[in-house]
Amino acid sequence: MVLSKHIDAYDLEYELLRDSHKVKLTSDEFNDEYNSSKLVPRYVIPEKSASEGDIYKYLNQELALDGIPTLNLASFVNTYVDEHQKKLAVENLTKNLADNDEYPSLIDIQNRCVTMLSNLWHAPHKTDPKTGAKIVNSLGTATTGSSEAIMLAGLALKKRWQEKRRAEGKSTEKPNILMATCAQVALEKFAVYFDVENRLIPINPESGHLIDTTKIKENVDENTIGIFVIMGSTFTGAFEPVVEISKILDEVEKEKGLNIRIHVDGASGGFVAPFAFPHLKWDFAVDRVDSINTSGHKFGMTSVGLGWVIWKDESLLPKELRFSLDYLGGVEETFGLNFSRPGFPVILQYYNFLSFGKEGYTKIFDGCLSNARLLSNYLDKSTYFDVVSVIHKSATPEEQKKLYTREVKHLPSLTVNESFQPGLPVVAFRFSKEVRDKYPEIPQELFSTLLRKRGFIVPNYHLPPDETNVEILRVVVRNSLSLALLEKLIEDCTDIIELLVKSAESVREILSNKEEASEHNTSTIHDLLLSIASGGLQPIRQKQHERDGHKAGVAKKSYRGTC
Ligand SMILES: Cc1ncc(COP(=O)(O)O)c(C=O)c1O
Repeated sequence: MVLSKHIDAYDLEYELLRDSHKVKLTSDEFNDEYNSSKLVPRYVIPEKSASEGDIYKYLNQELALDGIPTLNLASFVNTYVDEHQKKLAVENLTKNLADNDEYPSLIDIQNRCVTMLSNLWHAPHKTDPKTGAKIVNSLGTATTGSSEAIMLAGLALKKRWQEKRRAEGKSTEKPNILMATCAQVALEKFAVYFDVENRLIPINPESGHLIDTTKIKENVDENTIGIFVIMGSTFTGAFEPVVEISKILDEVEKEKGLNIRIHVDGASGGFVAPFAFPHLKWDFAVDRVDSINTSGHKFGMTSVGLGWVIWKDESLLPKELRFSLDYLGGVEETFGLNFSRPGFPVILQYYNFLSFGKEGYTKIFDGCLSNARLLSNYLDKSTYFDVVSVIHKSATPEEQKKLYTREVKHLPSLTVNESFQPGLPVVAFRFSKEVRDKYPEIPQELFSTLLRKRGFIVPNYHLPPDETNVEILRVVVRNSLSLALLEKLIEDCTDIIELLVKSAESVREILSNKEEASEHNTSTIHDLLLSIASGGLQPIRQKQHERDGHKAGVAKKSYRGTC
């Protein structure tokens, strides 16, 4: 028998079905056509209608092959909605957030959320003398996620820089923006899509795999439109130091007269930091921070499809980005990359604000961080793993003094989380040095593949350029990862690493019986296992890597594209 190189399963199945004898069935029969005699169309819309019930059944079956969202530990995106949220979502499923006239309550709810977030992030305010209520002059909008929010924030920086340059009679040809190489792909997309030079600042182990702040000054010039600072690195969950960066930019202003403004990408940290690390200063309380984005669908805990962007003062959003629409007899301003989009996630956000309150969000994040620290400490103690993320590491009194500088009236002392380094409830880890040195034939990717077999989705990725030689596994500890489930994960991690070590030992034993176990054997076993673990992709990645002249990070799977 000649083994064919590739079999197209669909084509072969189609041929066999076509040639087989079958009972003729119609769609209204108990056992319908799609059940056993006809393939469900994939690429061409069928000529005839079919029973909704049958189609529901097939879609439901096919989608059952997807990973289970609760066990998807790769994503920051919330996967749990309660019964009331589901009800609100279904009841408002068809409401379009762009229809201002038609859905005034929905639009009002959006505006309330913007104000709530502005207050949470300490936007400058006046106090109403009668009611004592805070009056902010901020401006913001709901978006489809942090990505759209980042595009808008970046555009505002670019347009403001252009306005200033034009007023000074200077060139607007070559704008640039600063961000660390650990930036999520959305930040890079902004630079590419809107023709802004991306000045990527390296990360390194000394800077905690975050922006190397010593490289900021040398990258700033008169064409710098701003800097993106990341509150919650996608790779490790650690927070970039907003206050320190702001101070560096103060020095730049003194030395070069350049007023460089900050946009904070708080995709996840925008929700986690205010509740879990209330004494950490990072938001509008830092004068240089002009705008912040966050994802309602991550730690804002709505269903997927919601982000927010807020400017602390309405003057920071240039006129060119605003469009006026007639609205209930008045004029309403709109800004955003999309027009029509679902309105119900905004309703879920407001529901969360009211039902959780600050108390609820704090308790939820306390739980997530506590579970994340447990997992980190377990992995560390097991000696099989090194933990790269920092939220389980104690903050020394000096560090606490430097980090937690915000005065919070009702909270005079630091919280439990603040006795540790700040960050998202994320555990980034890798095989320990001992395991890597002793068993170089075991690819880390295989660990991820075997966990997947047990249901858990824990990706294995390379760190970004400058540290691409480091592979990490990452678990995002969301509210849905309860202690009971975490216990299962811990057991499975242990079983799998022990299985891998045992298997490596037995293969070595077999080899040493036949011939001397050589270095060549070790790397062959490694490559074979890696190829299996990566679903055959690894040799292709390797080839790409060679073809692209070993450009750092190009051929490797990176966290940048994850959410
Ligand atoms: C730091 C950071 N910024 C931006 C994004 C993009 O967010 P979204 O998926 O809401 O567009 C992510 C996604 O994980 C992220 O982690």
